[in-house]
Amino acid sequence: MAATPATDSRERDLRDRYRSAGQEHVLRFVAELEPARREAFFDELEAVDLDLVTRLVRGDDAAALAATGGEIRPAPLVRLPSTDAEREAAARARDEGERMLRDGSVAVLTVAGGQGTRLGFDSPKGMYPIGPVSDRTLFRLFAESLHAAAATWGPYPLWMILTSPATHDATLAYFADEGHFGLPKDRLLFLMQGSMPAVDDDGKLLLAAKDRLATSPNGHGGSLLALRDRGGLAAMRDVGATTLYYFQVDNPLVPIPDPVLLGHHRLGHAEMSTKVVPKRSPDEKVGVLCEREGRTCVIEYSDLDEARMNERDADGDLVFRGGNIAVHALERSFIERIVETGEGLPYHRAHKKIPFVDERGNRVEPTNPNGTKFEMFVFDALPEARKTVTQEVAREDEFAPVKNAHGEDSPDTSRRALTEAYARWLRAAGVDVPRDADGLVPGAIEVSPRFAHDAASCAARVRESGPLEYRDGWVLTHDES
Ligand code: UD1
Repeated sequence: MAATPATDSRERDLRDRYRSAGQEHVLRFVAELEPARREAFFDELEAVDLDLVTRLVRGDDAAALAATGGEIRPAPLVRLPSTDAEREAAARARDEGERMLRDGSVAVLTVAGGQGTRLGFDSPKGMYPIGPVSDRTLFRLFAESLHAAAATWGPYPLWMILTSPATHDATLAYFADEGHFGLPKDRLLFLMQGSMPAVDDDGKLLLAAKDRLATSPNGHGGSLLALRDRGGLAAMRDVGATTLYYFQVDNPLVPIPDPVLLGHHRLGHAEMSTKVVPKRSPDEKVGVLCEREGRTCVIEYSDLDEARMNERDADGDLVFRGGNIAVHALERSFIERIVETGEGLPYHRAHKKIPFVDERGNRVEPTNPNGTKFEMFVFDALPEARKTVTQEVAREDEFAPVKNAHGEDSPDTSRRALTEAYARWLRAAGVDVPRDADGLVPGAIEVSPRFAHDAASCAARVRESGPLEYRDGWVLTHDES
C-alpha cells in the first residue's frame, strides 16, 4: 500500500517507540491497512502513554496499591439520626447544604461511562427506562430532579455527565432528541473519560482489530482527569461552584443534590465525603468504608478478607458494614490537587475475557480470562483527603441500583424500591396508600421529581393539592392538583 513520506516517518517513530517498549507487535498489520485507517490507527497509537503501560505491566505502581496492609478499622460514621442530638445535627447540616445550593456553590457529576455489561442493555445505562409506571429513563429522572432543585433553591447547578468512547455519542444524541429535558444548555456538560489499553497475560498490548487496540474506559476514577482535561473544573470555576456532588448513573433513588450530605461535608471541613448504607449481607457486592492508619479508604468487596467480611459486634451487626453507595461530595480544590500533577489515581487490575486479534489476524473470543484491564476508582482519592465525612443513610430511601438483569439490584428490585419510597412520602403526607398482605403497595406508583423530590416537598405539595386518592398506576406529575 502506497505511503507518503510523512506516513513513513510517523510509522518509523512509532516503531521505534513501540519496539523499545517491547510492544512492536501492534504494528504487525500496518502494511495491509488502507491509508485512512492507518492514519487513524497511528493517531491512536501516538496517544497511548507507553511509559505508563510499561510501569503498569512491570507492577512499578505496586506501592500505590499496596494499601492492603496496616491496621484496618471501620470508618467512623455520622450515624442515621436516632437521637434528638443527631436529628438536630442533621437539621443543621440540611440548613448549611441548602445555603450552599442557594448560593450556587454546588455542581453535580453523574458517572455514566461504564459499559453496563451485567445489565445486558445495549444503550448507555442512563437511557434505561426505570420509572415504575411511566418508564421514564434514569437520565430523565435526574434531569427532572435538577429542575426541582432549581425550583427549590434557585440557580440550576452545573450538571456534568461522564461518558466514555462507548457511551458518548449515544448519550449526546439522546439528550439532543429529548431537547436536553428543558435544562439550560449552559448548565450541561458532557465529559468523555479516557481509555486504557488492555494487555495479555504476558503484558503485551492486545489488538481488538488489525487497526485498533483493545481498550476499555479508565474507570470512574478517570472522572477526575476528565474534569481537568475536558473543561469540567474550568466550568466549575466559571460558575463559582466550589463543591462537587458525585453519583453513579445506576441509582435512581439518589437525592440530587442532597443538602444533608453537602452540609455535613461543609460543616465537617471535609475535602471528600461519602454516603454509606448498612450492608444487607456479608457478601453484598459493595465496597466498605474503612480507616487505615488514620486515613479513610474504601476496601472493595473483592478485596475484603473473609474474616473481616463476616466479623460481628456484640449486637450481632457486621463490624465492617458501611457499604459504599458511591455518592460523594468533593471540594474542587481537592480535585485540583489530586490531578495537578501526573496521572491521577492508582490503577487497579481486572483479569477479564478480552476479545482480540491473534498473530495471524484471526479474531478470538476467549472463553477464559486472558488479559488485564486497568481502571482507576474514584474512592482511591479518599486517603488523600485531609478530612472526610462518612454519612450513614437508609438504604430504602437512597439506594436502589440497577446493575443486574435479574435478581438482586435489578430493574425489578429498583422499581419496587421506587414505588415503596414514593408510598412512604405520600403516607407521611397523609395520603392513604394501601398495603397488600406483605406490607407492600399493591401495584406501582410514581412521583415525578417535579411534583416532589423528598418527603418534605411531597407533604407541601399534598397540602396544596387537596385530597389525593391512590390508584394503581398513579403518576404524580408537576401539574397534579
Ligand atoms: C461500585 C463500587 C462499589 C460500590 C458500588 C455501589 C467500584 C469499583 N465499586 O461497584 O464500591 O459499593 O458501586 O453501587 O466502583 N463507570 C464509569 N466509567 C468507568 C467505569 C464505571 O463512568 O470506566 C461508572 C458506571 O457507569 C457506573 C459506576 O461507575 O455508574 C459504577 O461502576 P461499576 O463497575 O458498575 O461498579 P460496581 O461494581 O457496581
